[in-house]
Amino acid sequence: MTNRRVVTGLDIGTTKICAIIAELTTEDKIDIIGIGLAPSHGLRKGIVVDIDETSKAIREAYQKAERMAGISIESAFVGIAGSHISSLNSHGVVAVTGEEKEIKASDIERVMEAAKIIPLSAEEEIIHVLAREFIVDGCSGIKDPLGMSGVRLEVETHIVTGSSTSIQNLVKSVHRAGLDVDDIVLEPLASSESVLTIDEKELGVALVDIGGGTTDLIVFHEGSICYTSILPVGGNHVSNDIAVGLRTPIGEAEKIKITAGCALKSMADQEDYIDVVTASGKQTQQVPLLSLCEVIEPRMQEIFSLVKRELEQVGPRDLTPGGIVLTGGASLLYGSDVLASDIIGLPVRQGEPKHISGLTDVIDNPVYINRGDKVPKAIFSTAVGLVEFGVRYYQPSKKQFNNEIVGSLFAKVKNWLSDFF
Ligand SMILES: Nc1ncnc2c1ncn2[C@@H]1O[C@H](COP(=O)(O)OP(=O)(O)OP(=O)(O)O)[C@@H](O)[C@H]1O
Ligand SMILES: [Mg+2]
Repeated sequence: MTNRRVVTGLDIGTTKICAIIAELTTEDKIDIIGIGLAPSHGLRKGIVVDIDETSKAIREAYQKAERMAGISIESAFVGIAGSHISSLNSHGVVAVTGEEKEIKASDIERVMEAAKIIPLSAEEEIIHVLAREFIVDGCSGIKDPLGMSGVRLEVETHIVTGSSTSIQNLVKSVHRAGLDVDDIVLEPLASSESVLTIDEKELGVALVDIGGGTTDLIVFHEGSICYTSILPVGGNHVSNDIAVGLRTPIGEAEKIKITAGCALKSMADQEDYIDVVTASGKQTQQVPLLSLCEVIEPRMQEIFSLVKRELEQVGPRDLTPGGIVLTGGASLLYGSDVLASDIIGLPVRQGEPKHISGLTDVIDNPVYINRGDKVPKAIFSTAVGLVEFGVRYYQPSKKQFNNEIVGSLFAKVKNWLSDFF
């Protein structure tokens, strides 16, 4: 039987768990062969708070994906988010060893290790050490110094850390669901793989993934990551505000938000009314659409103001001429792009994963039950990105080198190209 080269992405979100199984074709193209979705109840603001609930939902999601793909999987690249995540830029420097003064893989490994020396509390662990650029004898902007001549090797890195307990709870949930973890990957890093273009990254761009419980931010400048951040606010807060503001059950609030909600009240039809179920669930009342948007707008304003504040910390506005790319379920709220552009003052586009097949049209939709029959592609950005991350950094021919460039939590070179038959 043929050896099938398969990689799985597992997005453990606050609202939904999504498993995507992809196969690498003989031309090394990613072919998505299985997608599974399950509602998520064991997370709060991106963090696992109930291992049992989370592992049940993980099992449900990946088994659905397995059934669609017609294969079984053993492991997955798993996304991580939550406000326990921090990041910083760090510098490393070493002298190049050896007679020839030619940079070897071991020199790159040493300089990455040198950059990893950062103050960490006992509760924190490093998740990623991402090389932004190498500097050889003062010459900067080098992406791949292997084989170059030089005596002094420096690296600029972006280091992502997280709470050991939160990481362990995530890994435990995956193990309990019956899967191994290939690697833990920061969710916005994964989303950026699937949504952003190379040109946008070169130009400078900020990706904002607004999910149910968190808003994830990643900023690229000159092709490299310069900032990542997880904000503990997302679409679920908007639904909660609607439930409280219009005195309706949370499920109804969610439904109204998606079918009639608008991020900007000036974009709403001033004459329109919507049917709102009362808190008892027994009656409906007519409420002006404007009242709904008056509840939504301040929360969306808050989200984009927080993003703006984060971006101001990164640097001047001209750092990201590529503007803002919005993705994630909550970015689909009508008018989000207009509001984001008004507040942040940069051009905004809606983004979704580039390489996702038509399979999303046919998957059973247990999460977005009230949202018509099609699942929006923007909710798959992280899961597809996890697959792309896996394929990009774990190619057998490149794995040794790439594992150094993207040092990871598991720092292992696992042969994920499993033979299923
Ligand atoms: N069409 C839509 N309009 C408005 N909001 C939407 C729409 N579709 C989904 N959402 C909202 O998107 C959110 C879920 O998005 P997503 O699936 O990206 O989150 P998640 O990955 O589960 O959560 P997180 O990344 O925060 O852990 C929910 O708040 C949901 O109400
Ligand atoms: Mg998400």
